[in-house]
Amino acid sequence: MEKGKFIVFEGLDGSGKGTQLRLFAEELRRRGRRVYETAEPTASSTGGMIRDALGGFVQRDAYELSALFLADRIFHNVNPKNGIRKFIDEGIDVICDRYYYSSFAYQGIDADLGWVMQLNIGCREILRPDLCIFLDADIDSCDERISSSRLDREIYENKQAQARIRSRFFEVFDKLGDSENIKIVNAARDIPSVSADIIKIYDSIKEK
Ligand code: TYD
Repeated sequence: MEKGKFIVFEGLDGSGKGTQLRLFAEELRRRGRRVYETAEPTASSTGGMIRDALGGFVQRDAYELSALFLADRIFHNVNPKNGIRKFIDEGIDVICDRYYYSSFAYQGIDADLGWVMQLNIGCREILRPDLCIFLDADIDSCDERISSSRLDREIYENKQAQARIRSRFFEVFDKLGDSENIKIVNAARDIPSVSADIIKIYDSIKEK
């Protein structure tokens, strides 16, 4: 049986990832594909510990946080009920809101980037995506979206951190080079133009 595709959406907080991911999933379903939408951190108990740290309720060191994201990601791949591997093997496309690229860009600032990359890329339980779509928007428009959609800000949701994280993403993409299929989409445009570009990219990987 043909395996499903594994596609990851990445971007800064407020880049419009959630909206684009939903539109993309809808389009695939319209085309008759079976799609499973998922996100990291997951709803697991480790995911709960991560959310407490992101909310600033519990303080965690960047290395500790990297390890929690790693454990959550392994669970996300292998759990037999709704793990990524299970769906891919059943021929279902998996679309994931954030993945290890976020660990590299967010935790890779305060923790050693090489160590965080090795933990994730070197772990054979963690699948490599067929495609990573990075939604790139400038810090100011992301910040406006955060302000209009949330009451409380998480630890990374301030302009200074976001600027560092954005440049870290690009550094990481450079480091990864051709070993990963990463496509950068300009997200500072109207919603339909951005989603049309995403579909075009998807069609180009399906032909491969
Ligand atoms: P986000 O997609 O913004 O979810 P929500 O809309 O529920 O806030 O992701 C939550 C945060 O987690 C985001 O600030 C990025 C961070 N994050 C990491 O720092 N490392 C990781 O490995 C992942 C997956 C997310």
